[in-house]
Amino acid sequence: MKALQCVAYGEPSGLVLADLPEPVPAPGEVLLRVEAAGLGFVDALHVRGAYQVKRPLPFIPGTEVVGRVVSVGAGVDPALIGGRLMALSPAGALAERIALPAAICTPVPAGMSPEVAAGFIVSYCTALYGFQDCGALRPGECVLVLGAGGSVGVAAIDVAKAMGAHVVAAASSERKRDAAKAQGADQVLDYSVPDWRRALAALLAGRALDLVYDPVGGGFSETAFRCLAPRGRHLVVGFAAGEIPKLPLNLALLKRASLVGVDWGGYIRAHPAEQPRLLGRLCAMFEAGELHPVATPGVGLAEAASVLQALLDRRSVGKPVIRLSS
Ligand SMILES: NC(=O)c1ccc[n+]([C@@H]2O[C@H](COP(=O)([O-])OP(=O)(O)OC[C@H]3O[C@@H](n4cnc5c(N)ncnc54)[C@H](OP(=O)(O)O)[C@@H]3O)[C@@H](O)[C@H]2O)c1
Repeated sequence: MKALQCVAYGEPSGLVLADLPEPVPAPGEVLLRVEAAGLGFVDALHVRGAYQVKRPLPFIPGTEVVGRVVSVGAGVDPALIGGRLMALSPAGALAERIALPAAICTPVPAGMSPEVAAGFIVSYCTALYGFQDCGALRPGECVLVLGAGGSVGVAAIDVAKAMGAHVVAAASSERKRDAAKAQGADQVLDYSVPDWRRALAALLAGRALDLVYDPVGGGFSETAFRCLAPRGRHLVVGFAAGEIPKLPLNLALLKRASLVGVDWGGYIRAHPAEQPRLLGRLCAMFEAGELHPVATPGVGLAEAASVLQALLDRRSVGKPVIRLSS
């Protein structure tokens, strides 16, 4: 089978398109013919060896995967063969086949395309966990999403809108702001300008800002926190800008505001039973027509390295998806 392999940490251009033996499903596993793989900023960091946990070399990048079951290992119901499943795997999504424990796979909801399914688990579970469990978002509240044109950002817009929020989407380019608008943002903000706090105040026109969803960090975080209304919540999701910001704590005191960490990965490792609850709720929301994920057109495996580079270079828009078969 064809697979993209990381044989040395470095830039995505160093990834190797390899011919590898097809995996054989072990007891309890299913073998998927991979249809699509979703990529995110973290996958690019893994290739650089720059994520907090380094993957041992060589490895096949990509953790979000959707595919058809072609065979099953001992102890797995053969009725699964032919069905379409999605999963979050420890690695290995950028390959034509992947063997995964059946227990970590979920049937793709009716009406969800492979492109959407491949990008659904990480960004949407993080958003639902962030808004519902960490931020206690209530209908009618106002949310500012930073990095709103990125993969975590567009999902946050969709989930916040489904929960009844008013969403202001902040992004640095017109393409990303257009993607945020297409995803349902009520208002968009160019936060690449120095005085974006003033521009946000003009947009809000007196409306209180209740929550900030922050997958970006760097210099954006403190400014966003300063924009919060009293009793606001700032959800710390990630640091795509590279710099981990520091916050003067008097701001939290003066605003009676909260800074809440949204470590969805850590949460489901500590409470594995919670992941089916989050994903089950999201699948039900999708089937009820409450979520409207916008799929980016999938590109082939040969283009995966440039997709990963675009994530590192701040050029990626929406949720990038690699198509491996149809
Ligand atoms: N907490 C969790 O459970 C969880 C789960 C998944 C991902 N994450 C984290 O969320 C963050 C975003 O991931 P993603 O997949 O959405 O990435 P993405 O698609 O690349 O989006 C990140 C956005 O950050 C902004 N950004 C600002 N400075 C940047 C820079 N120097 N380089 C790259 N982007 C920059 C960009 O928007 P503008 O150009 O508009 O500024 C970009 O669109 C990552 O840090 C990831 O680790 C956290």
